[in-house]
Amino acid sequence: MSQATLAFIGAGNMASAIIAGLVNNDYPAEFILATNRTPGKLHALKEQYGIRTGSDNLSAAREAQVVVLSVKPQIMREVASSLRAALSHKPLIISVAAGISLEALNHWLGEDLPIVRAMPNTPSQLGVGACGLYANPHASAVQKTLAERIMQAVGTTLWVDKEELIDAVIAVSGSGPAYFFLFMEAMVEAGVKLGLTQQQALDLAGQTALGAARMVQESGLPPAELRRRVTSPKGTTEQAILTFEQQGLRQLTLEAMRACATRAKTLAAELSHIPTSEEEHGK
Ligand SMILES: NC(=O)c1ccc[n+]([C@@H]2O[C@H](COP(=O)([O-])OP(=O)(O)OC[C@H]3O[C@@H](n4cnc5c(N)ncnc54)[C@H](OP(=O)(O)O)[C@@H]3O)[C@@H](O)[C@H]2O)c1
Repeated sequence: MSQATLAFIGAGNMASAIIAGLVNNDYPAEFILATNRTPGKLHALKEQYGIRTGSDNLSAAREAQVVVLSVKPQIMREVASSLRAALSHKPLIISVAAGISLEALNHWLGEDLPIVRAMPNTPSQLGVGACGLYANPHASAVQKTLAERIMQAVGTTLWVDKEELIDAVIAVSGSGPAYFFLFMEAMVEAGVKLGLTQQQALDLAGQTALGAARMVQESGLPPAELRRRVTSPKGTTEQAILTFEQQGLRQLTLEAMRACATRAKTLAAELSHIPTSEEEHGK
């Protein structure tokens, strides 16, 4: 399976990032196919990575052992339903679309297909993404490993064992980059109020975020322990931490992430809606 033919249906930001990561990690370009609605992005991908491109979703899917669905969630129903006729060889399907349930994919693509739902995030575009994965029972161990390898081209991956946990993944890593952007924004504003220039505050905040993230990843220590180690009693950091704690940062974070997960559920219900036969026949 190491040289499975991969077909990316939709060659936008996420597909391009995964393709770049795969080729840069020596996945043979001749085993990567991409299709797109308009040709501009395909020319660029072909030119830069030497992959194969085309405009026919069905013939790409027919040839592939893995079909990566990388179109926007709003058009997934139309694209997936049209692919149905090209999937009788039961390729592995990987959907990176936020908010599209396995039930809906099954309904649109046809039953019994091995499907992996992947929830990547924006830093994937720099190869430092974090991606949650969930597989349906039709996906074999080999196919799950392959899905993992594909998504690891743009960052780290982890499996969740219930589909509803994808909403928790969205709350932590899917939407998470924006929480850090907001916090950095607030730090920069505060730094400016304390007398730094905007650029100075931005440089310090950005490098500090990077340094703190690397310490969490590379020290093997929990964030709470790292925080304790830099918080001396009666020191400067302690004053800031006490203020955050007293003003309810933890509760606020919990409420924000619950709101995010609830919204993910609602959006998924809307985007993955399978019409009843009455609805389908306009009754
Ligand atoms: N970007 C992220 O950081 C991120 C993070 C998590 C999940 N995702 C998921 O990744 C998926 C793609 O997102 P994206 O940001 O990559 O969007 P995008 O840049 O808009 O890419 C979607 C691509 O699909 C193409 N397309 C539309 N209809 C098509 C069709 N019928 N057949 C073939 N291709 C078609 C579009 O072509 P045109 O060029 O003609 O418009 C576009 O290039 C979404 O489902 C999103 O939820 C993205």
